[in-house]
Amino acid sequence: MTIKLLRVTALLAVLTGGWSCAGDGTGLDTLGNPLGSTVPLGPTLAGIQDNIFTPICTQCHTGAAAPLGLALDAGVSFQNLVGVSSVEKPEMRRVQAGNPDASYIMWKIEGRAGIVGERMPRGLPPLSAEQIAAVRGWIQSGAAAN
Ligand code: HEC
Repeated sequence: MTIKLLRVTALLAVLTGGWSCAGDGTGLDTLGNPLGSTVPLGPTLAGIQDNIFTPICTQCHTGAAAPLGLALDAGVSFQNLVGVSSVEKPEMRRVQAGNPDASYIMWKIEGRAGIVGERMPRGLPPLSAEQIAAVRGWIQSGAAAN
């Protein structure tokens, strides 16, 4: 009898949402990935977010007081980057979907001659070739919210 009750309780817990994949977005982040998971580095926003933006860039680029209004926190990085004019170089977009060389973020992380201010990440070692290639690949393939 006691065991049967426990089983019913466990089943109820699952049915009432005590399950991490409820199918309604519960337990998922804004990109649809499980909360707390780290997506491997690659040319996707999720991979770039988890391996570059969150651990490195949000040391400064976070919240309402982020430098130049550029918060790179998960959930807002896309809307602050893609198609948005740079403050330092307003004639350029921070990310120009499909065109990394016209994207100011590439200039900043590659430390190109035409930038205003410093190479990013400011005051830290430059990103690795692999990290830079991931950002380039994401922009080249259309800078989707993927
Ligand atoms: C130590 C603090 C700090 C870190 C870490 C940092 N930034 Fe910055 N970022 C700044 C500051 C301050 C500015 C404005 C002055 C400058 O450009 O040097 C800036 C400016 C920028 C701009 C120009 C925005 C515009 O609208 O013109 C971009 C793009 C940028 N950062 C991207 C990044 C990326 C990507 C990373 C991570 C790889 C990063 N930053 C890491 C402090 C930081």
